[in-house]
Amino acid sequence: MDRFVIHGGVPLRGEVTISGAKNAVLPIMAAALLTSEPCVIRRVPDLSDVRFMARILQSLGASVRFEGGVLAIQARQIQGHGDYELVRKMRGSICVMGPLLARLRETRVALPGGCAIGVRPVDLHLKGFRALGAELEIAGGYVRAAAPRLIGAEVFLGGRAGPTVLGTANIMMAATLAEGITIIDSAACEPEIADLAGFLNEMGARISGAGSPVITIAGVKELHGAEHEAIPDRIEAATFAIAAAATGGEITLRNARPDHFRAVLDKLREAGVTVERHGPALVVRPGPVLRPVDITTQPYAGFPTDVQAQMMALMCLAPGTSVITERIFESRFMHAAELARLGADISIEGPSAIVKGVSALSGAQMMAGDLRASAALVIAGLAARGATEILRVYHIDRGYENIDAKLRQLGARLERISEAGLGGE
Ligand code: EPU
Repeated sequence: MDRFVIHGGVPLRGEVTISGAKNAVLPIMAAALLTSEPCVIRRVPDLSDVRFMARILQSLGASVRFEGGVLAIQARQIQGHGDYELVRKMRGSICVMGPLLARLRETRVALPGGCAIGVRPVDLHLKGFRALGAELEIAGGYVRAAAPRLIGAEVFLGGRAGPTVLGTANIMMAATLAEGITIIDSAACEPEIADLAGFLNEMGARISGAGSPVITIAGVKELHGAEHEAIPDRIEAATFAIAAAATGGEITLRNARPDHFRAVLDKLREAGVTVERHGPALVVRPGPVLRPVDITTQPYAGFPTDVQAQMMALMCLAPGTSVITERIFESRFMHAAELARLGADISIEGPSAIVKGVSALSGAQMMAGDLRASAALVIAGLAARGATEILRVYHIDRGYENIDAKLRQLGARLERISEAGLGGE
């Protein structure tokens, strides 16, 4: 298991190019199961989650090639059994269910179970499949869905915490091959959903309204192969912007889509950070003072839960008190106790973290618990005085392409140490 050793206190400076979005690519990979023809996805980040999804598609019978950021997938003949051992390891793989049901009219996929950030039920996915006419049977930790005919329907996908991203993806994909019109109400509005709909339309689907709360899908008889370029990763872009702010540095983000993370940029500006557009690039630099801000995570276009941990790391250094409220996942504060090891002052009260800014953090050993929490620990380590060691960085490799190389390019003194104790650069 690799770890990072960071010598903090160096302001980040320079340019960084944002990779393709993991959370756009994963459902788009699943969508390639909807056709027997070849599909090509470009600007694909080289991440362990992407490689893992490729293994899942292969286990279903698809051929997958991944080279130089380009994924070629062909699902000529597939089978519909998604193994627990695979699904368990990556919750995002639940989005193979919609395409498998649509293509094969029958599928059996392991229920994914919870993960480090919460219980993460799939009841809304199942509600949607039922609405399209699928019979569902849950037994032995698997859900079997069968639908000799999928029939368009009105589906309301709003849940306790708002819409569901992968639930929307799943139902949208299943509905592309249903008979008649499907209307998804209270659909997730995330840019990744709009990107998936773009790919599906390139495959011959008839989807309108993706990116808004009401998506209409007119079913077609079959889909064909397509080529697509994934959108840039808004969470990676937000993470680098926050890292620049936390170290008091100045960086330029290339290939970012500021319109995809306005809520984060707005909070950074409120915190006193300067964010400017220079043509297609985005420049982030510190203002005269860092101010505390209150944040509540919300579905898109609100402040993303996937940036909550990173923003908490920044607020640890803002003089005054910030209140960070997590409304999407119930236990997504595991980073708070780790940040405390660097001297952060954070108390958790129900869904809120009360962060009292300290004048400086000082390096220590920390343990990464999930993907975005790991990013927060890296940001804190970059801002802290002295040496920080972050264990179990495999979590960060799931979602950040070459993060160590990208940070070094910005001047960070960060080293990856492999299990054997050799520098893994
Ligand atoms: N929910 C239900 N029932 C369901 C589905 C979801 O109650 O059937 C609840 C969840 O428990 C949660 C809320 O609805 O409280 C939102 O969950 P959602 O379904 O939107 O999450 P997801 O689709 O499983 C995706 C991202 C996550 C990101 C969330 C929220 C992918 C592969 N994953 O998960 O990304 O946090 O949306 O934006 O797209 C990450 O990249 O680190 C990550 C965890």
